[in-house]
Amino acid sequence: MGIRSIRSIEVYGTWQEVDPEHVRGKAVVVVDALRATTTLSTMLAHGAQAILPVESVDEARALRQKIPQIILSGERNNEPPMDFDGGNSPLEYPPARVLGRRIALTTTNGTKAITRCSDSGAMAAAALVNAGAAARWLCQSELEGGVIISAGDRGQLALEDWLASGAIVDGLGPCQWSDRARAAHLAFVGAKPRLQAVLSEANHGAQLIAQGMGRDVEFSASLDRFPGLGVRAEDGWFRLWNRP
Ligand code: MLT
Repeated sequence: MGIRSIRSIEVYGTWQEVDPEHVRGKAVVVVDALRATTTLSTMLAHGAQAILPVESVDEARALRQKIPQIILSGERNNEPPMDFDGGNSPLEYPPARVLGRRIALTTTNGTKAITRCSDSGAMAAAALVNAGAAARWLCQSELEGGVIISAGDRGQLALEDWLASGAIVDGLGPCQWSDRARAAHLAFVGAKPRLQAVLSEANHGAQLIAQGMGRDVEFSASLDRFPGLGVRAEDGWFRLWNRP
């Protein structure tokens, strides 16, 4: 039997391009490879119970009132907000720190893409570290159309998100690809032999390296490191989905 697939796939270069009509009833994957969805994926792979992406630092702080044991994580200008438990580096969240924990995550672009495009039929978050899992999730979706949203950076295309979107397209079975899906796929195929170097040259990668976070870029470039991904449940929290 061949690989099952959704009927069509579309890719957006930024979340700002997405009209709610574009995602309604569709299976949506949000991608922010540097670093929000890499970090979210890592937390769940390392045993976090559930993650709630929130738009603002204040929303995260308010959650602590309701759930005192929650971990507050995220960034503004790539650094952890004051009084948060951690930043937005995947390396900060080993199993010993996150096992069984609930986590609120707020970032400049990635979690905004998730919260602003929430009208979808189903939603997952992925990156290069679990692109294959994202493709499997799309293929197993009961929904006919798939959409991948590259979060971008403040309304501009971010190369690392575009490449990760292309990596997801690469894992899909036969379906109708939009030209943007083809473009992202072609970019991924070209960059695949040197993902780490390409991510380091990308604007945001170079900025993270300049701020001393080069290991995050290296980690984020590791294709299919994790077999599962975060999928939004009915209560809005993202939990691990991990099916062959
Ligand atoms: C974002 O959401 O803009 C990013 O994840 C920024 C970062 O690298 O922390």
